[in-house]
Amino acid sequence: MALLKLDIADVRNIESASLSPGEGLNLLFGANGSGKTSLLEAIYLLSRGKSFRSPQSGRIIRFDRPCLTVSGSIGRPGAGIAVGVRLGRSEKEVRVGGRSCDSSAQLIRLFPAVLIHPASVALLEGPPRWRRQMLDWGVFHVEQGYLDLLRRFSRTLEQRNAVLRGEAPGSSLAAWSGELARWGTMIAELRSSYLDRIRMHFGEMVFALLGRTDVELVVRPGWRAGWSYADALAASQPTDRRLGYTEPGPQKGDFAVLVGGRPARDYLSRGQLKLLTYALLLAQAGLLEADQPGRVCLLVDDIASELDSRNQERLLSLVKSTGLQSFVTFSGATQGVAAVVGRTARVFHVEQGRIRTGS
Ligand SMILES: Nc1ncnc2c1ncn2[C@@H]1O[C@H](COP(=O)(O)OP(=O)(O)OP(=O)(O)O)[C@@H](O)[C@H]1O
Ligand SMILES: [Mg+2]
Repeated sequence: MALLKLDIADVRNIESASLSPGEGLNLLFGANGSGKTSLLEAIYLLSRGKSFRSPQSGRIIRFDRPCLTVSGSIGRPGAGIAVGVRLGRSEKEVRVGGRSCDSSAQLIRLFPAVLIHPASVALLEGPPRWRRQMLDWGVFHVEQGYLDLLRRFSRTLEQRNAVLRGEAPGSSLAAWSGELARWGTMIAELRSSYLDRIRMHFGEMVFALLGRTDVELVVRPGWRAGWSYADALAASQPTDRRLGYTEPGPQKGDFAVLVGGRPARDYLSRGQLKLLTYALLLAQAGLLEADQPGRVCLLVDDIASELDSRNQERLLSLVKSTGLQSFVTFSGATQGVAAVVGRTARVFHVEQGRIRTGS
């Protein structure tokens, strides 16, 4: 499985472009502002049905155009499935195999892409929401019913919160708490076993990028460690009543990355933190590849940002060694690149929104 063909229309400065990516490493070279990130944004749109740069489609659609389209073919040569996303200012259409879909879920399942870019460091530095999103994306790909489970949990949480706010009969609190405990425990267990499985891949990536063996992933379910969720809900009932919402639960779930027993974000340099984030995302891609070989695509933007030349080379060789279909952008000097990738990569040059196959 790979992205075999890509057609882009009206994504930022890319008016129209068609390319046939290679199944391994694809290198995208171009000056600042040429359209490299926009090209990755287009591939990401095809993978998730949304952009990583802006939730507002008006910003992504080329100025003065009504909508953008990204379409492509995913699969093995000769047996690709047609996929497409059309984004207007207030409407979206997702198509898979020639059929319109109600949501992006089918697209996400068919074409999982992992994005690594300078802002990815927010995964370790930013609020828990980012880490939960990462976990949930990973669990979604291994657990068929996970999306339903998350929806059920959210609906039940809403109901319990309505009781806490006095908008529904107080007598139903025990029933909603029981149901919430059931769904919440399942979510926390799935997230925790996902982290258990990612650990080994993470350890390998961390060693390859940072040469360290003292990095740990610690899961936080969203309530007091060692307690069951049902007990945590019972204990927090008086607080929840006062607050008018449910305090503990997987809606507060998180994980921490510790280096030598200390939180990575308080201790590592900016470049090291970036490498650690990249190791985590590469581990996520590696785990999915192990589960469902040949499906995952890597998007790596601005590989040179804040990394010294040795680390850029390390990262590029690691990306190459995964064997995954990858798209890697470069804006700066390219001396080290040729040495690392040899002749195996497919090369594209991006110039003012135009893409040409190069060498
Ligand atoms: N909606 C839009 N319509 C047209 N052009 C846009 C739109 N949004 C952004 N642009 C322009 O698209 C160009 C390409 O941006 P992009 O971020 O893809 O460049 P890049 O090659 O990644 O540059 P860098 O190396 O600096 O990261 C920029 O000049 C930007 O101003
Ligand atoms: Mg860019």
